[in-house]
Amino acid sequence: MEQQITINDIYLPHMENYARTQIFYGGSSSGKSWFLAQRCVLDVLKGGRNYLVCRQVARTIRSSVFQQIERVIREAGLLDYFTINKSDALITCANGCQILFAGLDDVEKIKSIVPANGVLTDIWVEETTETERGDVKDLYKRQRGGDESIRKRMILSFNPILQSHWVYEEHFKAVAWADDQQNYYSDNLSILKTTYKDNRFLTTQDRHDLENENDKYRYDVYTLGKWGILGHVIFTNWRVEDLSGMRNQFTNHRCGLDFGFSSDPAALVVSHYDTKRRSIYIYDELYERGLTNDRLAERIRERAEQMYIVCDSAEPKSIEELKLHGVLAMAAVKGKDSILHGIQWLQQQEIIIDKNCVNAKAEFSTYHWQEDAGGNAIRKPTEKNNHLIDATRYAYENETIPSGASLVGFI
Ligand SMILES: Nc1ncnc2c1ncn2[C@@H]1O[C@H](COP(=O)(O)OP(=O)(O)OP(=O)(O)O)[C@@H](O)[C@H]1O
Ligand SMILES: [Mg+2]
Repeated sequence: MEQQITINDIYLPHMENYARTQIFYGGSSSGKSWFLAQRCVLDVLKGGRNYLVCRQVARTIRSSVFQQIERVIREAGLLDYFTINKSDALITCANGCQILFAGLDDVEKIKSIVPANGVLTDIWVEETTETERGDVKDLYKRQRGGDESIRKRMILSFNPILQSHWVYEEHFKAVAWADDQQNYYSDNLSILKTTYKDNRFLTTQDRHDLENENDKYRYDVYTLGKWGILGHVIFTNWRVEDLSGMRNQFTNHRCGLDFGFSSDPAALVVSHYDTKRRSIYIYDELYERGLTNDRLAERIRERAEQMYIVCDSAEPKSIEELKLHGVLAMAAVKGKDSILHGIQWLQQQEIIIDKNCVNAKAEFSTYHWQEDAGGNAIRKPTEKNNHLIDATRYAYENETIPSGASLVGFI
């Protein structure tokens, strides 16, 4: 069989791009991840290069970037040249070069990771907006050593969710990046911005969805690939911390669940409430599509064993199924104005999000009010990217519902 890889034209010049730091960013479905997976496979096949592919959270790797690289190998008819070890997340080429994978949350693994031969020539941080600046800086140290002539790369790929993000501060400000610019190149840094228009493998439905996005923020970021700017953000009372050392102090658990299956994810928030300080510590999350209720129950029990889970009441059957699988599920009451009440109450708390709760971070930072035709905020939140926010509202519903009502539907 003839081996073939078809690369979108816009990325072709980047096959031979050896800038030290390389940024591939832009709108959704623009072919960034696919191209980087293709280049990774071809580099390793040619020999002399080893890759470390990272995301913030290790448990998200197998279902995303590992799977994409595996698909590129399979579809290009290259399976004979690679040994793919899914359980250890390791791909080894017949020539000895390797593709290693690690989550930045797996600190010990990251510190000790080395390929079988040579050095890590390439580190690819997929979905870089999930990460903290310091953790990515530390990654450069993992590339020390080796032959002077080998050109090393740090590759960052992401959607530009917010202009206040450290990636913008660090790499875009320095080169006075203009939002209508598409390319920047120096030996130190390259930037390529792409959108769905640059990906000729998209389906008509994908294009239609992106072109018909009616939320201005999402249209700018995911359709046009512009750095996100939010005028009417709802939550500013949150911050990110490393909560890993505090877990055993968390006793006042509050958990909420928003159901989802295909287009929306199932979203679980696991938190601790410091009643005195009015501080909410979000220290674990689940954010996953395609889970049947038995698998969902398993995932919940891994994160919140023996904790009460306040669930979206719109799915009573799912709640019953979760109970059958040993989850202490109860239905949220919701009721009139519960969304606005819940939001107002949450705005009055201090919210601390663990740095590995990347989806909670993304939702709290971008949740915003809808706008009228004149661009003014209306008292209605956007109904997208609100899954973990809804779950948080359910978790704290008993604090927020007006007096005269009470929770029902428990076991
Ligand atoms: N060279 C290619 N050959 C075949 N299919 C491709 C190619 N490039 C992209 N695709 C298809 O387009 C889809 C979207 O591409 P990709 O996932 O790389 O986009 P992305 O820019 O990483 O999007 P996001 O920002 O949402 O992560 C892929 O799932 C794949 O089906
Ligand atoms: Mg991608």
